[in-house]
Amino acid sequence: MSETYTMAKAFFITTPIYYVNDVPHLGHAYTTVAADTLARFKRLEGREVFLLTGTDEHGQKVEKAAREYGETPIQLADRVVNRYKDLWTRLQITHDRFIRTTEPHHRHAVQAIYRAVQANGDIYLGEYEDWYCTPCETFWTEKELVEGRCPSCGRPVERLKEASYFFRMSKYEEPLRRHIEAHPEFIQPASRRNEILGFLKEGLRDLSVSRTTFAWGIPVPDDPRHVIYVWFDALTNYLSAAGYPDAPGELARLWPADVHIIGKDILRFHAVYWPTFLMAARLALPEAVFAHGWWTVEGQKMSKSLGNVVEPGALVEEFGVDAVRYFLLREVPFGQDGDFSRTAFVHRLNGELANDLGNLLNRTLTMVQRYLQGRVARPEAPGPLDEELRDTAAEAVRGYRTAMAELGFSRGLQSLWPLVNLANKYVDENAPWTLAKEPAKASRLRTVLYHALEALRITAICLSPVMPGAAEKMWQQLGLQGSSVVGGETLGGHRLADAEQWGRFPEGTAVGRPSPLFPRVEG
Ligand code: MSP
Repeated sequence: MSETYTMAKAFFITTPIYYVNDVPHLGHAYTTVAADTLARFKRLEGREVFLLTGTDEHGQKVEKAAREYGETPIQLADRVVNRYKDLWTRLQITHDRFIRTTEPHHRHAVQAIYRAVQANGDIYLGEYEDWYCTPCETFWTEKELVEGRCPSCGRPVERLKEASYFFRMSKYEEPLRRHIEAHPEFIQPASRRNEILGFLKEGLRDLSVSRTTFAWGIPVPDDPRHVIYVWFDALTNYLSAAGYPDAPGELARLWPADVHIIGKDILRFHAVYWPTFLMAARLALPEAVFAHGWWTVEGQKMSKSLGNVVEPGALVEEFGVDAVRYFLLREVPFGQDGDFSRTAFVHRLNGELANDLGNLLNRTLTMVQRYLQGRVARPEAPGPLDEELRDTAAEAVRGYRTAMAELGFSRGLQSLWPLVNLANKYVDENAPWTLAKEPAKASRLRTVLYHALEALRITAICLSPVMPGAAEKMWQQLGLQGSSVVGGETLGGHRLADAEQWGRFPEGTAVGRPSPLFPRVEG
């Protein structure tokens, strides 16, 4: 039996690779946090996962930026790549691979896929003339321009004419349409799928895939006057990081990717260019491309000129990584646009995290310390209130699991709050402080606190993909064993299945001292 035959396919998730001409901001952090959360969720389900991220280091844009900084492109890339790597560490991103497109292996892979497309008869030499937007690295037709400017970023475009190799993309218009129609999950959410089907109706032109007007890129095989178009180069990262072309065993374990997570602005590249390149190279297409929306800041477009760029590192510094991750995923349904505001951030932090969740943990542990000397005891047979809490937990985990598997992070988190809220109400209604005064109620007291702890145990497991640090703290304060979420491990090896079973909290556990999970902050 071959190596590839026996190896289970890993769940392969990608982020876009980020341009190094800019330093990371909230938008970049968003895509990566979402991808990391999905990766942690899949691990929690017991899947083997491969999470890929990295940097897009070639192209005219990077060459230009380097010139402005008085650096060579590689010096610029070497400097900025560390900003990304540092931020991913601070955001607790558990990527398995960080790829840089300047790696020799990647260059080799890009040339290999280029040759494969060429060998299929899908590359020819022609002449290119059109409007070019350098910041977007995109050619536009006259018709596509908006008031003579780039339809994507609104900046001026320039007329460019050059000898260029073309990819016969037009040949794949029909096969691509058929693929999209036969695979409703290929482009998500559905609105984005319709957008691409609409775009295909206009007809696909062949695509210029080489440039001669600058040098910072990967040379076209056998014609080094040309460098390969930066999007052809960049998209190939998903394959080169997966072992293409020289590690077929690794490639079989990873490819096709299960989901490319991207922003809506780069949908066309991922849902049209990339699949047609792959078809021409006779490679399998990714299972899904999921495009999320864009963030504005206090109602305005985030931009350097407005000076309102949100620096994720500063937010982490001020509010902690868990609150930042929670806010990004809870505030806006994944796929829709959203607004970042300090008021909204503080509101969620103080309300859902400090009040609802933090309080439940704190008061429960305080009472276990005070009334049960810190020891978790066996519950008695459940009564109606206990059953209601148990059923609500089951419902919460079901809703959470379904939503998270669909990248519905906000819905997934929302599903858990009825459990948190009911557990608080359950404590209020059962009033352990009153039970503690009557020796005859000792067994009921133990039962109520057991169930409150159980709700917390289940919540901690489910929250761990979104807030790994807070979940870890909850786990330790609850006195649960073998815990480490660092490096992508989940709460002492606990799985989602452990959250689906009510009554798993080990009797006799000595709970820890309560310490605030989310201190309230001033608006
Ligand atoms: N290098 C290309 C991607 C190549 S992938 C083969 C690129 N890089 S980027 O650095 O400009 O952007 C990366 C991601 O950041 C995109 O998914 C983009 O949508 C996201 N965001 C940039 N600004 C954003 C917001 N304001 N809001 C949300 N996401 C945003 O494109």
